[in-house]
Amino acid sequence: MNWFKNLKGKIRFNEPLSKHTTFKIGGPAKIFIEPYNLNDLKLLLRKTKKDKIPLKVIGSGSNLLVSDRGIDGIVIKLSSPYFRKIKFYSGFLEAGAGVSLPDLIKRTTALNLSGCEFLTGIPGTVGAALVMNAGTKDREIKELVKDVTVIDYNGKMRTLDEKNIKFDYRNSSLSKYVVLNTRLRLIKKSKNEILNKIRLYRNYRNSTQDLSHHNAGCIFKNPLKSSSGRLIDECGLKGEHFGDAWVSYKHANFIINKDKARAADVLKLMDYIKQKVKQKFNIALEPEIKIWQ
Ligand code: EPU
Repeated sequence: MNWFKNLKGKIRFNEPLSKHTTFKIGGPAKIFIEPYNLNDLKLLLRKTKKDKIPLKVIGSGSNLLVSDRGIDGIVIKLSSPYFRKIKFYSGFLEAGAGVSLPDLIKRTTALNLSGCEFLTGIPGTVGAALVMNAGTKDREIKELVKDVTVIDYNGKMRTLDEKNIKFDYRNSSLSKYVVLNTRLRLIKKSKNEILNKIRLYRNYRNSTQDLSHHNAGCIFKNPLKSSSGRLIDECGLKGEHFGDAWVSYKHANFIINKDKARAADVLKLMDYIKQKVKQKFNIALEPEIKIWQ
């Protein structure tokens, strides 16, 4: 694998993925690469495809459970400055896939641009938020998207207009690509109005979600016309735990890592929750988090 030497980005071997997930859970990635720029990324995609090396892209690991065994392949993170650029044109904002949502909100607020406030408190990156169509009960990121530039696993780039992307609830057709950047439609508003909205979203999250422990956000998708949190709560499962993985007392659709939880503990707890909800309500919960086994 001599081609590694031609990469300008950072390469680490046996990198613990627990360092790169908000759950603080996950075994090592055999090879962990932060490509320096687009050329690096293209080289990586070409070579891994040719040599059939499994490759995964990680954002800020905020909706992700990585197995305790780790990943026997390459994990890439678009965290170099090249992938974290933000530019404002009249009427829309261009943001790189590696921009964190908190940074996006900080920058757009400074520019008096409204639209991203509902993403407050979501610790993801722009790329992951697009792939997962991140959002809240009332808004999703798809509503802001003008277009998304992606690269496929053959190294071919294209810009997809919003009309040619299929966005679903916490899912999208972008999952078959590596997202490079997006242009979002935002509107000018007064800073006060923007800050007030941010405050409302932040207060709601703080009062309903357990953000003081490591977690991966909501574990299960909400079934149609219902809330997984409420269903799990009504099964009396708050405080249930396997090892250090606990059902949060504050929001039953959150599993928190109290200290040294393993992926196996979380998976056992998820199975247990699914079984109980199925028994009581005859509803099959589906994970919202991505699971890398
Ligand atoms: N509820 C309970 N017990 C609980 C938790 C919730 O009875 O333990 C009840 C609440 O009282 C409320 C209802 O369930 O009446 C809905 O709860 P909440 O407002 O907290 O919203 P949610 O449906 O649980 C969704 C998203 C969250 C997002 C919030 C706020 C999903 C799976 N969850 O949660 O997104 O932050 O709305 O907009 O779509 C995430 O995607 O990771 C996430 C946390």
